[in-house]
Amino acid sequence: MTSGLQAKAVVITAGPTYEDLDPVRFLGNRSSGRMGFAVAQAATDAGARVILVAGPCQQDCPQVSERIDVRSALQMREQVMRHIEGCDIFIGCAAVADYRPAETSDKKIKKDGGDLMLRLVQNPDILAEVAALPKRPFTVGFAAETNDIETHALRKLRHKKLDMIAANQVGEGRGFDCCDNALLLLYPDGRKQPLPTQAKCSLAGRLVDEIAAEYQRIHNPH
Ligand code: PMT
Repeated sequence: MTSGLQAKAVVITAGPTYEDLDPVRFLGNRSSGRMGFAVAQAATDAGARVILVAGPCQQDCPQVSERIDVRSALQMREQVMRHIEGCDIFIGCAAVADYRPAETSDKKIKKDGGDLMLRLVQNPDILAEVAALPKRPFTVGFAAETNDIETHALRKLRHKKLDMIAANQVGEGRGFDCCDNALLLLYPDGRKQPLPTQAKCSLAGRLVDEIAAEYQRIHNPH
């Protein structure tokens, strides 16, 4: 355990978002919250004051200064933006839905014998919005990819103007809803650092060490 984030204010998102179709149905994804919760615990262990904004998940709560539970991407964005001022580091580990239903019915949608067409509208990109703030925190994204991990993650790093991205392979029992994971860390200057497969809690510790070192390198270069 390091004390590399002593007294730093860190906001972390974790888990999935659920986008409601009606009172009983939603669009969601397979994120369990394990990875984000492990990162939150590791940041606390490194001395940070952590605010965790969590989508719906069943994991044991890590030790954090504050946990805020949300359901949808819009709610997650609202809580992140409410708490981001004065934050030193933002880590976006949540699997935020890119789209939500254009309409949410307040009554259960009935089967009427034919096919049902759903219109989806784009959600705001929380990570890109944080990175675009005039007084932005050190901003770390995740990239969940089924293929061409490095190419896609690099594109996200550059497009969203991040300080670091942690890419992971997902699908076929990897990444989502399992106990271990591997990450490829990418930096804007072209450096890369693989973190091999291990339990999400120890992987989170390694990631937090790398974030602390990079934060230090940028803010106190001598
Ligand atoms: O929760 P687990 O079961 O432990 O699984 C962990 C994980 C696989 C969910 C995690 O390691 C991970 O990869 N999290 C990011 C998942 C994701 O949504 O990746 P993405 O490539 O679609 O998004 C890229 C980045 O933009 C992410 O930091 C995401 O939080 C952010 N984003 C995406 C869309 C959006 N509307 N707003 C965002 O902030």
